[in-house]
Amino acid sequence: MNARACDGSAGDVDYAAVGGGYAAYRQPDPRIAARIHAALGTARTVVNVGAGAGSYEATPLDVTAVEPSASMRARRPAGRSPAVDAVAEQLPFPDDSFDAAMTTFSVHQWSDPAAGLCEMRRVARGPVVVLTCDPALVRDFWRYAYAAEVLDAEARRHSEIAQLTAALGGRATVERVPIPLDCCDGFNEAYYGRPERLLGHGARQACSAWSFADDATRARFAAALRRDLEDGSWGARHGALRQQPFLEGSLVLLRAVPD
Ligand SMILES: C[S@@+](CC[C@H](N)C(=O)[O-])C[C@H]1O[C@@H](n2cnc3c(N)ncnc32)[C@H](O)[C@@H]1O
Repeated sequence: MNARACDGSAGDVDYAAVGGGYAAYRQPDPRIAARIHAALGTARTVVNVGAGAGSYEATPLDVTAVEPSASMRARRPAGRSPAVDAVAEQLPFPDDSFDAAMTTFSVHQWSDPAAGLCEMRRVARGPVVVLTCDPALVRDFWRYAYAAEVLDAEARRHSEIAQLTAALGGRATVERVPIPLDCCDGFNEAYYGRPERLLGHGARQACSAWSFADDATRARFAAALRRDLEDGSWGARHGALRQQPFLEGSLVLLRAVPD
């Protein structure tokens, strides 16, 4: 298991160092939220593992949040119940404690995703719902031409979808989640049709993939993208994306129920 950083961060990212602007750029998107809540079905009690600042914990769910990073726990909106300080790989709950379990944009950071998913299966009576990215699709994005090493690293961080569904067992479904053009959750592909946003350091910093890139990579990316936006070459290649309402990218939703 990863050693925990000084703020408790347990995955491959130290949120005390990079989490400062997270909540400003990573708001839950209502269209993605609707898919998550449909997958949770009639569940009332839900454990949200790797809860971060609490995205996608909509009422009327009775949510128990689990979050190892103190920096992220501190960013939970006022009025939410405090998150439990624990890691996915060792959930401090008895078997079958919740109607369902969910995790969003987190499983790729865990030191042992299979162990964490087994724990989610153990503590949930019903569906386990996982919003994540398919590593086989991560590179199919124009940004690959500008920062291949960032997306290569991102593809390596994500487990193959078949490994995740095998860890969950039972009956599993996997669906692609269309990414809206005005997506308010600023993960990697959310800016597919708004490339100027990726020129901003804050927007990039809110995607943990960038925390593995060095300053030279970031500077090279920004300079090349700025040049191509100014001379029209980005627009010539990808300009249609500015009007494309959704992108079928690498975002997927896994749902597994017990046999
Ligand atoms: C990209 S953030 C996602 C937060 C939130 N779920 C969201 O959708 O905005 C990833 C979160 O996973 C948490 N995390 C990393 N490793 C973890 C582990 N082993 N167990 C539980 N959570 C972990 C991080 O601390 C971080 O808050």
